Amino acid sequence: MEDRKRHMIERHLKGRDITDARVLAAMAKVPRERFVPEHLRDEAYGDYPLPIGLGQTISQPYIVAYMSQALALRPDEKVLEIGTGSGYQAAILGELAGEVYSVELVCELQQRAAGLLAELKYTNIHTRCADGYAGWAGHAPFDAILLTAAPPEIPQALIDQLAPGGRLLAPVGVALQRLVMLRKDPDGTIRTEITHDVRFVPMVRGALVPGQ
Ligand SMILES: C[S@@+](CC[C@H](N)C(=O)[O-])C[C@H]1O[C@@H](n2cnc3c(N)ncnc32)[C@H](O)[C@@H]1O
Repeated sequence: MEDRKRHMIERHLKGRDITDARVLAAMAKVPRERFVPEHLRDEAYGDYPLPIGLGQTISQPYIVAYMSQALALRPDEKVLEIGTGSGYQAAILGELAGEVYSVELVCELQQRAAGLLAELKYTNIHTRCADGYAGWAGHAPFDAILLTAAPPEIPQALIDQLAPGGRLLAPVGVALQRLVMLRKDPDGTIRTEITHDVRFVPMVRGALVPGQ
């Protein structure tokens, strides 16, 4: 596993444009094989998404690293993630930021991720089963917000929960999705910048999917 992880980091991260030493260290530390179903563990360090059950996926390592690098997190910052899924991206954020709040619509996934993150001793990651369109108002404002499911447009509630000086990174769109970086200047001015074409699962609106 360690060899496969090293190969993934050298080839798919350093071999492309991942240069941030803290992001590379986080990707080297977090055991991705623990976040994928047992029968897929051999594939944990391939650079592609994998199914995690309930129709959802864990994102490919390069995208996790790319988005984490783009947010340029500082160790004292507070981050909100929408779409906990397996909890892997949350663990990477937990290595880079001070506190991580992560919201997942499918309660069974949230419960599974919360259990694994506790087992791996991530006491700075807090998860909740809720609709991410509403963000997590009780812990706002956030220095950074990361969406790992694609809404048709960036929800206003999330922009409102971004601190002045904050960054929000999201895949946005329906048929065609683009990665959008939104920055809130200290005076509240919003600036957006569109980067890559991407493919994420849609950010579903509405009813929670309960756990067992
Ligand atoms: C690509 S997966 C996330 C991958 C995850 N970050 C990881 O590291 O495994 C997208 C997740 O967003 C969740 N999701 C979709 N719509 C949502 C919503 N409205 N609120 C919260 N989570 C949502 C899905 O259930 C799914 O688990």
